[in-house]
Amino acid sequence: MNRLEIDFAGVHFKNPFMLSSAPPSMDARHVIRAARLGWGGVVLKTVSEEPTVDPRTRLGALRKGPNLIGMNNIELLSRKPLTTWTDDWIPQMKREAPEDFVIIASIMSSPEPEGWASLTETLAQTGVDAIELNVSCPHGSPEKHQGAFIGQNPELVEMVTKAARKATDLPLLVKLTPNVTDMVPIAEAAIKGGADALSAINTVESLIGVDVETATPLPVSYGADESEQLSTYGGFCGPAVRPIGLRFVSQIAQAFPDTPISGIGGIEDWRSAVEYLMVGASTLQICTAVMWHGFGIIKRITKDLEGFMERKGYESLGELVGLALPKITTWTALPKLPPLVARVNEEQCTGCKKCVIACADGGYLAIQMRGNTAMVKADKCDGCGLCAVICDDDAIEFIHI
Ligand SMILES: Cc1cc2nc3c(=O)[nH]c(=O)nc-3n(C[C@H](O)[C@H](O)[C@H](O)COP(=O)(O)O)c2cc1C
Repeated sequence: MNRLEIDFAGVHFKNPFMLSSAPPSMDARHVIRAARLGWGGVVLKTVSEEPTVDPRTRLGALRKGPNLIGMNNIELLSRKPLTTWTDDWIPQMKREAPEDFVIIASIMSSPEPEGWASLTETLAQTGVDAIELNVSCPHGSPEKHQGAFIGQNPELVEMVTKAARKATDLPLLVKLTPNVTDMVPIAEAAIKGGADALSAINTVESLIGVDVETATPLPVSYGADESEQLSTYGGFCGPAVRPIGLRFVSQIAQAFPDTPISGIGGIEDWRSAVEYLMVGASTLQICTAVMWHGFGIIKRITKDLEGFMERKGYESLGELVGLALPKITTWTALPKLPPLVARVNEEQCTGCKKCVIACADGGYLAIQMRGNTAMVKADKCDGCGLCAVICDDDAIEFIHI
């Protein structure tokens, strides 16, 4: 039995993991290599009427010490003309990738129906399994009234989705932008326009940093003359955006329980995959983790996800979908002031004192050292959870008193 298989918007996936539309899906060579390693499917790099000319460099990193936690990019769409995809790459993928590998095209056009209809019709003829509408790229495209410019406006989203809907019977996914206050009206517009499924999230608009030695914002886009160094706002992705992705996916899953969702944003291992499934996604797309660690992560992530399901007794992936949603409520509905305090598990505590310092200055002065172990004074502890946040050793538990 394959516990990982799932049906999504009428398409069967042998496992829920897809390459998202991004550099790892930029051409046939990449996609076929990923397909042969066991990925469930791909959303191809977004194509438009005209190929893109990109700045160099176009990626920036957010690090905490030696650890990469996020990345931003100012890359745009496919650098190859549409005909390369329709005449060469997609037919090659269909010939050379395993038959059960799902191929989804991604398109972007201006906010007029003709472009969306024409791109949809052209791509549908190639034999792809579904089409994703990119109304969510936060950089470059909005300046041209494309991408997130459309995706921030419900009327435009409905209009372009309708145009694509009229042009094909294939499943349509609409990829949504997190650069909005509320994603629900946008998702509603996509569904009204005829979307079969939603994908969320695209990248979060950001300025990744500044090179303080040269006062240059990052990433640096170099001119032909090396002294020309400019930058612009880009799209932030990777583990650091996962909380934003989980928020939006859970909100649209709660609002539209009958619409399948492809979760995206910082998925890097079995645990983050399960988090997205539990808040309502039923397929999962990955970009950054592949860019950092390669296509081979699919082996570990599927093996570990199966291991988790076996350990917990889940027979099928569908059982996980939306499992955490009933526990998300409003702040007002939360129980207040339960008699809860922290307790230090002495076997786990390494005596690093981080919780003592944090609780003294950011909390309630409730933790002190006893010998080499931290100890919570129950009468002072407020149950806020800061000690558990700062503890590297998983040594804090909470007890009702
Ligand atoms: C360099 C780069 C290029 C991207 N290009 C596209 C694109 O062409 N179309 C698209 O829909 N999303 C694009 N994305 C966004 C990703 O598909 C994905 O939504 C985002 O990176 C969040 O997932 P992650 O945290 O796994 O990276 C791009 C992301 C990166 C880093």
